Amino acid sequence: MPYANPRVTLVDHPLVQHKMGILRQSATPTSQFRTLVRELAHIEAIFATADLETESYEVETPICRTRAKRIAGPKLAIVPILRAGMGMVDGVLDLVPSARVGVLGMQRNEETHEPEPYYEKVPVDVASRDCLVVDPMLATGGSAIAAVKLLRERGVANIKVMVLVAAPVGLDALLAADSDVHIYTCAIDEGLNEAAYIVPGLGDAGDRIFGTVA
Ligand code: PRP
Ligand code: URA
Repeated sequence: MPYANPRVTLVDHPLVQHKMGILRQSATPTSQFRTLVRELAHIEAIFATADLETESYEVETPICRTRAKRIAGPKLAIVPILRAGMGMVDGVLDLVPSARVGVLGMQRNEETHEPEPYYEKVPVDVASRDCLVVDPMLATGGSAIAAVKLLRERGVANIKVMVLVAAPVGLDALLAADSDVHIYTCAIDEGLNEAAYIVPGLGDAGDRIFGTVA
């Protein structure tokens, strides 16, 4: 049965499905993998920003005066979870070039699968911004939960989490940990293996983006 929750948006546009198929393949080289992560983040961000507030204002065309719309309301911060989240940042910045970027370092412990925070640098005015947390993988959900909790502690009211692949158990955990967060994902996979990797997944996203495996 498909995963049904109003706080989860599955971005399954045909172009997304096509790109995800290539992304998953172990034969896909690092350079193409990186490009695909950026493109998928770009498409996903269109959906994740669909509810941005707008305001009406007057413009002058070569023909006459008319009314147009521009983005209003809180400004955005993109918050990648290091390392793999960095691969999604430029795809979102292509759409929202004025967004600020705050980074959170989380390393998943290979034995316990718990996230170990190691770095934080967020904009000084983060509490007044809407935050888009980006990370390709939502497996147990531990890293995203820690990121959302930290941003709540910094006073952020509106948080969306954008991932490329999610495991149902990670979605359940993140939705239970935070009563307001909205999650965007390009795929919802079957589950996790004994090493807490997503099945079928795409392997280690950070290693594939940064080329740190043979
Ligand atoms: C990966 C991934 C997520 C996390 C997902 O990062 O990019 O941050 O694991 O797993 P979880 O939902 O079970 O927490 P990892 O810790 O491997 O670090 P990396 O990005 O530096 O490779
Ligand atoms: N982190 C990854 O990079 N991939 C997974 O499948 C799970 C966690």
